Amino acid sequence: MADTKSISPAELKRRLDDKKVEFLFDLRNEDEYKAWRIEGREDFPALNISQIDFVGEEDRHMDHFPKDKEIITVCAHGDSSRYTAELLTDKGYNAVNLEGGMDSWSEYYEIHKVTDSPLIYQIYRTARGCMTHVVVSGGDAFVIDANRHIEKIIAFTDSSGAKITRVIDTHLHADHISGGRDLARKAGAGFFMNPIDAEGATFSFEHLRDGMEIKAGGNRFFAIHTPGHTPGITSLLLNGRYLFTGDTIMKTDMGRPDLGGKAEEWAGMLYDTLFRKLKNLGDDIIILPSHADSIKEQDDNGVVSLTLGEVRRGSKLFSLTEERDFIMYILESLPKNPGSYEEMQKANLGLISPDEAKKKELEIGKNLCVMKKPEDV
Ligand SMILES: [Fe+2]
Repeated sequence: MADTKSISPAELKRRLDDKKVEFLFDLRNEDEYKAWRIEGREDFPALNISQIDFVGEEDRHMDHFPKDKEIITVCAHGDSSRYTAELLTDKGYNAVNLEGGMDSWSEYYEIHKVTDSPLIYQIYRTARGCMTHVVVSGGDAFVIDANRHIEKIIAFTDSSGAKITRVIDTHLHADHISGGRDLARKAGAGFFMNPIDAEGATFSFEHLRDGMEIKAGGNRFFAIHTPGHTPGITSLLLNGRYLFTGDTIMKTDMGRPDLGGKAEEWAGMLYDTLFRKLKNLGDDIIILPSHADSIKEQDDNGVVSLTLGEVRRGSKLFSLTEERDFIMYILESLPKNPGSYEEMQKANLGLISPDEAKKKELEIGKNLCVMKKPEDV
């Protein structure tokens, strides 16, 4: 067989950013593909035929493939797709394999500077839309919502010459395994969580409470309890200007309030948060969320952010000023509750200790923390 070309996840991301993905062939099962696939800043032609349906029947499917375009082959771990890229190359197509498949795509991270002063970085787990923020000041690094591949965060702070002194989880994460505790332990830093969300946790932590002020280097963080997505979720206002909202407010919408099985009650909390708790914050506050729904939310510098004014003007929820209307809209907007989320909550409380293979399995798929519109459910 011919030598097959391959691309790394970083190269794939470059092509997605440059809108240069010409054709993508995904060999996973239909269910896996529907639940989670590679998406670009704009749509591109893609084909899904499962490996089982493709192998042995290749000639029957050849008409689907363009001769004049580069075909990126993708599967779960990168093996079937490598074989398929070889086969397509032998048949005269221009095929390249995504190294490591969705597995490696899921663990690809990119780092973007948000501002120089204060110095804020956004570390983006691209495929899953999970974001960690690192705020650096005077050799001190303050980490918010650390993803579980903590070696990437440590390598980054080491290269910046900063020491991690505080690690905060804005809430009990349900869609991914948090790296917060491990990172804090390894760095010898304090680990903070709101005790409401950490109820039942098997580890000790420092209590993050409403109104608390934390100084780090030359920065001042002010904790604002913003319940709704979870009852304990706590946002952090940096120097009165940048608001780290966790999943309270994201770019496309608010964080869904149903993951604890108390949608109506928690939707009421979210109403309070948006209309009362955050009422006195100005429209120019810059929100840095911990999740994105897709890479379409990244600006030209790769950063996901928005202002509070944009949320107030753009979110349907902000037009529903009557609490009952607000809650009913949310109840009609709830996507299906993914079963694996309960296990990840348990892992993040230290109640279970999944091994690496299990962690990967639990984290398959894109994060589903954001609310949908009723028509999209
Ligand atoms: Fe969340």
